[in-house]
Amino acid sequence: MSRRLLAWYSDAGRDLPWRHSRDPYRIWLSEVMLQQTTVEAVIPYYLRFLARFDDVHALAAAPLDEVIDLWAGLGYYSRARNLHAAARQVASAPGEIFPDTLEGLMALPGIGRSTAGAILSIAFDRPAPILDGNVRRVLCRLFALEENPRGSAAEKKLWAWAAALTPADRSHDYAQAIMDLGATLCVPRRPACPRCPLAGLCRARVLGLAEKLPLKAAK
Ligand code: ADE
Repeated sequence: MSRRLLAWYSDAGRDLPWRHSRDPYRIWLSEVMLQQTTVEAVIPYYLRFLARFDDVHALAAAPLDEVIDLWAGLGYYSRARNLHAAARQVASAPGEIFPDTLEGLMALPGIGRSTAGAILSIAFDRPAPILDGNVRRVLCRLFALEENPRGSAAEKKLWAWAAALTPADRSHDYAQAIMDLGATLCVPRRPACPRCPLAGLCRARVLGLAEKLPLKAAK
């Protein structure tokens, strides 16, 4: 699975501003901005933010108001407050270096398990599973999960699948490949199955369920 996905990504992966760096600060900033916001909306904010705050120390030294002002329009302002608080935590820690473990990353405000996995993979090239909205949809289809993916049993299965599929190497590429697949082909409505590198492995496709999955949570 990862071989097919990585081959596709080498060809079809998107050229996005945060893909030109492995600086954990830049990767972290992009992942937080992308938590609830589309790539298109994030790009100008990401570039503006970096033009003002080049590293974690610059961010930590800034007044919160200025950070919030730069965030204006992106929404979910708790992300900006957490980002600022996390920058201060990193900048005041012994060694002042960005954490490079799951526990260290998750100890920072605003970083959950999936964002920690993304930062570990993309910035540090370590195998760590990710389960954001895009990956969740890909896995629900690949394994034809016919239950509410937000239920606790489903959540456990999804994390286990995400971990089992994460290859031991090329973590940097794999993380972005699976997110890109969800963002560009394995989209919520009218997925582009004929172009999907995983079509031959996808249970939902075999069962004719690709459009129906993931199931919506019952109201
Ligand atoms: N969504 C979340 N993280 C992403 C990334 N690194 N690239 C593209 N889309 C994403």
